[in-house]
Amino acid sequence: MRAEAILRILAWFVVLVLVGAAVFLWLARRPAIPENPSAASQAFPAATIARGADLAAVGNCVACHTKPGEPAFAGGLDIPTPFGEIYSTNITPDPETGIGNWSLDAFRRAMREGVDRAGNHLYPAFPYDQYTRVSDDDIAALYAYLMTRPAVRREDTPNRLVFPLGFRPILAGWKLLFLDKGELPPRDDKSDQWNRGAYLTEGLGHCAGCHTPRNAFGALDDNRHFDGGEAEGWQAVALNASNPAPVPWTQETLQQYLRQGWNQTHGVAAGPMAEVTANLRFLPDADIEAMAVYLLDQMGSRAPRVTDRADAPAGRGAEIYAATCAQCHDAGKPQPFGGLPLSQSTPVNAPHPQNVVNLVMFGLPPADGEAAPIMPGFGNALNDADMVALLGYLRARFSAAPAWQGLDRIVGDTRSGRYRVTTLPANGIERGPANVNAKGD
Ligand code: HEC
Ligand code: HEC
Ligand code: HEC
Repeated sequence: MRAEAILRILAWFVVLVLVGAAVFLWLARRPAIPENPSAASQAFPAATIARGADLAAVGNCVACHTKPGEPAFAGGLDIPTPFGEIYSTNITPDPETGIGNWSLDAFRRAMREGVDRAGNHLYPAFPYDQYTRVSDDDIAALYAYLMTRPAVRREDTPNRLVFPLGFRPILAGWKLLFLDKGELPPRDDKSDQWNRGAYLTEGLGHCAGCHTPRNAFGALDDNRHFDGGEAEGWQAVALNASNPAPVPWTQETLQQYLRQGWNQTHGVAAGPMAEVTANLRFLPDADIEAMAVYLLDQMGSRAPRVTDRADAPAGRGAEIYAATCAQCHDAGKPQPFGGLPLSQSTPVNAPHPQNVVNLVMFGLPPADGEAAPIMPGFGNALNDADMVALLGYLRARFSAAPAWQGLDRIVGDTRSGRYRVTTLPANGIERGPANVNAKGD
């Protein structure tokens, strides 16, 4: 073929791509919803605002929309993704820098479709792929709550994303593939309680956002629902039949864990889960019960697999355990301030060692109202080789699952900060058991 012919074909190809892109962008446009200058001065019934406050807690809005040390809901928190940094936005009712002139329609569209008032597509770092299931009533209550918060003037921080993801119209393609808009249809073959649990868990609670793995496009992998995911440098363990807890969860233990952030047989919720449970305490008992019913159905039932091998190989790991850990974890002390026997520990029995590495390196921060940490960090006392020996020993002694691979690298990357682990809550609320005197236990 002559060079000219090839050039002509190439030119046509470029034209076709450009036309295709233009048609796509035209289709991807979303209209702006007119400003409502009086949105932030509306009055709402006190009961609606109060319900919105509880719903906002379940949705954990404050955690993502607050930069530590700055006013609540004013945004600016850096959310790392494999594609770059995304910054949460100001959702206080400031008319210029926040959502103070958003009508309820605009707010509902953001929650359901991930589109802002001006018509721009939003990144799914804002979990609208799950909030889309929230009912109109609950969205209205959330709106009432946000619109009655103090307005804070704070300009949004521009995102820093790899090329070409900074170009928002691309998100229309993502949504076409991965956004399943609207409420979940209730299942007739399940109880009302189960359906209520599904509504909260799969919607506002956005539990799958951490507990389900993501595909290469950052979308939740629906074929592996609740199969375990990653969040803020922690492993959000599987909540389906692969749940690694040595003692299977029961209705009662799950309710206690969700309500108070710890349970006698399962220990304390660590990492980002501590904040989730700290927020769930605002839910009425009936809702916590419903979530537990739904989650238990996801997990199914199975036999316990608590392992404590007396014949685990002695050596450096065994010595460190005896000298450093046993005083708390082998002493039969009650939860949440005593260490759980590690044979009952989910992290020690999980497929990936990351949570144990995080716990041993950084410890567990103090509970609300307590001065001392629940568990001190041993990052300074133990070097990498000590940590690797200890982790190998814990796994060999307290789990029947295969040995962890790549411990050297995982410990090294965690210590060097290459693998970013969030150990402090996003909003400055202290981590740890929500309320030690809560009912249950
Ligand atoms: C996991 C983190 C996360 C959580 C939880 C979260 N958001 Fe967001 N939200 C974001 C991010 C990030 C953005 C900005 C997305 C972008 O720039 O495209 C955002 C954007 C928004 C917007 C659009 C605002 C604007 O100015 O364009 C609204 C409205 C919003 N969130 C409301 C909420 C509400 C209400 C909740 C709780 C029910 C909530 N968010 C929980 C991360 C989160
Ligand atoms: C921001 C991320 C995140 C969100 C959102 C989240 N989780 Fe978790 N969850 C985690 C992490 C991380 C762990 C592991 C904590 C640990 O080992 O102590 C965890 C642990 C758990 C466990 C304990 C499992 C076990 O066997 O030890 C349960 C139960 C649980 N989550 C339920 C939920 C429910 C229900 C929701 C929704 C309301 C939810 N999670 C939302 C991150 C999250
Ligand atoms: C001063 C007491 C203390 C010491 C020493 C201590 N821990 Fe802990 N640890 C705790 C407490 C309290 C908790 C929270 C309750 C719980 O979940 O076990 C905890 C939690 C844990 C957990 C999470 C257990 C779960 O599934 O909830 C692991 C894993 C753990 N510690 C490992 C270790 C290891 C390994 C060492 C030794 C290097 C150690 N701890 C030393 C008190 C201690």
